[in-house]
Amino acid sequence: MSKRIQKPRGTRDILPDEYAFRERLLEKAFKILKTYGYRFIVTPTFEYTQLFTRTIGETTDIVEKEMFRFQDRGGRDLALRPEGTAPVIRAFLENRLIPPAKIAYFMNMFRAERPQKGRYREFWQIGVEAIGMKDPLIDAEVIELGARLLQEFGLENFIVEINSIGTKDEREAYKRALLDYIGEMESQGEITLCEDCQRRKETNPLRILDCKIDGPKLQNAPTILEFLSEDSYRYFEEVQKYLKKWGVDFVVNPRLVRGLDYYTHTAFEIKLKEIGAQDALIGGGRYDTLVEDLGGPATPAVGFAMGFDRVIVALGNIPRIKGPFYFVATVGDFARGYGIGLLRKIRNMGVPADMSYEIKSLKAQMKIADRIGAVKAVIVGEEEINRGKVRVRDMETGEELLVEEDKLRDLYEEELKRKKT
Ligand code: HAM
Repeated sequence: MSKRIQKPRGTRDILPDEYAFRERLLEKAFKILKTYGYRFIVTPTFEYTQLFTRTIGETTDIVEKEMFRFQDRGGRDLALRPEGTAPVIRAFLENRLIPPAKIAYFMNMFRAERPQKGRYREFWQIGVEAIGMKDPLIDAEVIELGARLLQEFGLENFIVEINSIGTKDEREAYKRALLDYIGEMESQGEITLCEDCQRRKETNPLRILDCKIDGPKLQNAPTILEFLSEDSYRYFEEVQKYLKKWGVDFVVNPRLVRGLDYYTHTAFEIKLKEIGAQDALIGGGRYDTLVEDLGGPATPAVGFAMGFDRVIVALGNIPRIKGPFYFVATVGDFARGYGIGLLRKIRNMGVPADMSYEIKSLKAQMKIADRIGAVKAVIVGEEEINRGKVRVRDMETGEELLVEEDKLRDLYEEELKRKKT
């Protein structure tokens, strides 16, 4: 026997129970996003690599080591999208969409990270991008929307962390101060940085704050907030004011830096409160120069993306889904022919139903009904047909009812209503 082929490392199969669970959550999410005025788009799964190197940043982990990058037969340099913001802005510009625009997406992303629970090489994000608006009101609304979605999914134990990373100039001044501080601590022998952070000193010093090894060593380092201009600081305060007004709990984390280079001003993450749950469920912020960096007119924007797979992990148990509502079981040749017609009729009523495609004994049919999780069996025999009725057996209680076919839809709807209340 040849060796079975397995899925690539870091990928997952989403099986029926989980799929149904995800579908339920997505329905909720889409509804809320639409009430906030977002409209959905989909962009290609792969883009020219340059789109990501120019926006996410050459020296970020994503671009340096996590992109699935390949050449097509024409020698073009392509990459599976590692995130959605740059593609959405590319599409916004390429299709001449008009600001202000509120765009949402549900798309799979690809990053060659070290896989672990909640961290995959292919994962799904629900994202929003509010393009062409610069007011603390929209920053606050985007943050509130992230928290609202998580709440709606039934999550409560999360914490919203916010920060402002100011403008490019403010950040440059801060970078110098941070490097001075690190230099001083190193020369006094107070700290030694890990190998990665030695390199980050040259390439991306703010990321040192985010390093699991070195971040904690910098508790007394200056923070970005001390380097914000009055305007930037006031903007950040206004964002907080709205959040307070709407009752969104948050903490200011002046060490919050994001792993992508395009951010300006507001940056935020929503994380699980549980100890050890390091990874964020949602990450986002403002990016006022990205549209221009991609060749468009100066256009401010703000958004976030939620790691949908992480939300599923955080929610824990995936409920078992029931099978089709009815399972049509037949006794005898004549009844089978009748049952095939009845199955079509039930499905045409919009009620999920199935039957055994192979001819089997009633006992064997009931076994199948049980295995696929049917809620009720519809048993059809010659006697029932003659009386113009069918027998409906509850698969759980075994209770039976003799009803007219037309009643099958009512029974289904009653059950749906009962479940909802
Ligand atoms: P990000 O922080 O790189 O931001 O990702 C957002 C979320 O995607 C993370 O908080 C996490 O929940 C999820 N995520 C990231 N990597 C993985 C992974 N390997 N496996 C599972 N989930 C993952 C962005 O992608 C930005 N584009 C967000 C944004 C939108 N900023 C402004 N607009």
